[in-house]
Amino acid sequence: MEIVRTVEWMRQIAREARAGDRLTGLVPTMGALHEGHLSLVHAARQGCSPIVASIFVNPKQFGPGEDFEKYPRSFERDVAALEEAGVHYVFAPSPAEIYPAGFRTTVDVAGLSERLEGRSRPGHFRGVATVVLKLFEIVQPRFAFFGRKDAQQHRIIRQMAADLNLDTQIVGCPIVREPDGLAMSSRNAYLRREERGAATSLYRALSAIKTEIEAGERDVTRLNTVMRTVVAAERSAALDYAEIVDADSLEPVMCLRRTCLALVAAFVGKTRLIDNALIEEFGDTFSVTL
Ligand code: PAJ
Repeated sequence: MEIVRTVEWMRQIAREARAGDRLTGLVPTMGALHEGHLSLVHAARQGCSPIVASIFVNPKQFGPGEDFEKYPRSFERDVAALEEAGVHYVFAPSPAEIYPAGFRTTVDVAGLSERLEGRSRPGHFRGVATVVLKLFEIVQPRFAFFGRKDAQQHRIIRQMAADLNLDTQIVGCPIVREPDGLAMSSRNAYLRREERGAATSLYRALSAIKTEIEAGERDVTRLNTVMRTVVAAERSAALDYAEIVDADSLEPVMCLRRTCLALVAAFVGKTRLIDNALIEEFGDTFSVTL
């Protein structure tokens, strides 16, 4: 496995892979890796070679007062885990390499970026889309792997790839959870021991509506209330949003239909957590995937 620090060198590797008709797979990350990230590498291994994993804590997707400075960094451990998982190249550029002085261009996926995460984190998805487009240009992957844990991000990246005719297939991968249901996240490292129980309230909220939907509940107002009640029961949790939306438009729905997403975000102590469930219609029933 090789660690690649410059855009120039990465582009050279990418050019050779394209020329050899190789199926480059890209797994973009911000490091502090856990099993959720590694599941993306495992998915990439199914058909891609070479596999490139990027580690770049992208300053442009953090708002003022957010956790850019203290975002967990564990480069040595990450590199060892990626090598073990079968990654061929780790692309780990410096901020100046990605955003040289005078950098100006941004990517806005209008209509999908302003609600939900975008409302609480203005400019976040502009930063995400901008860096992901740059990574695609530099690495030239045939396939890029994203976790459904960040459902809105996944939706926005798919839209960007379609709108800009990118020659990269976006692959969505299942959410990897701790044994108690908490979705794995680099930010879980911020949780204090006494907050760990409250942190599972997002998962419990989604599990509660799974039970309701499987029992025949279709009324979204009621389902949203169920989710909000579960999170509100935790003293150290402060709900940001709990909403069922259309999976395509990310607009609120009144009644379950086709494919929906139940999205939850809450602060547990000072740590902001997100989680979601996919709700899919099959004939006259719905299946809920956490
Ligand atoms: P990061 O939070 O490091 O996540 C990198 C990838 O891992 C994302 O696609 C995310 O959805 C996925 N992931 C995280 N936790 C997961 C889990 N529990 N199960 C499955 N997949 C999981 O998302 C980002 O970085 C950045 O926004 C990035 C796309 C790299 C752009 O900077």
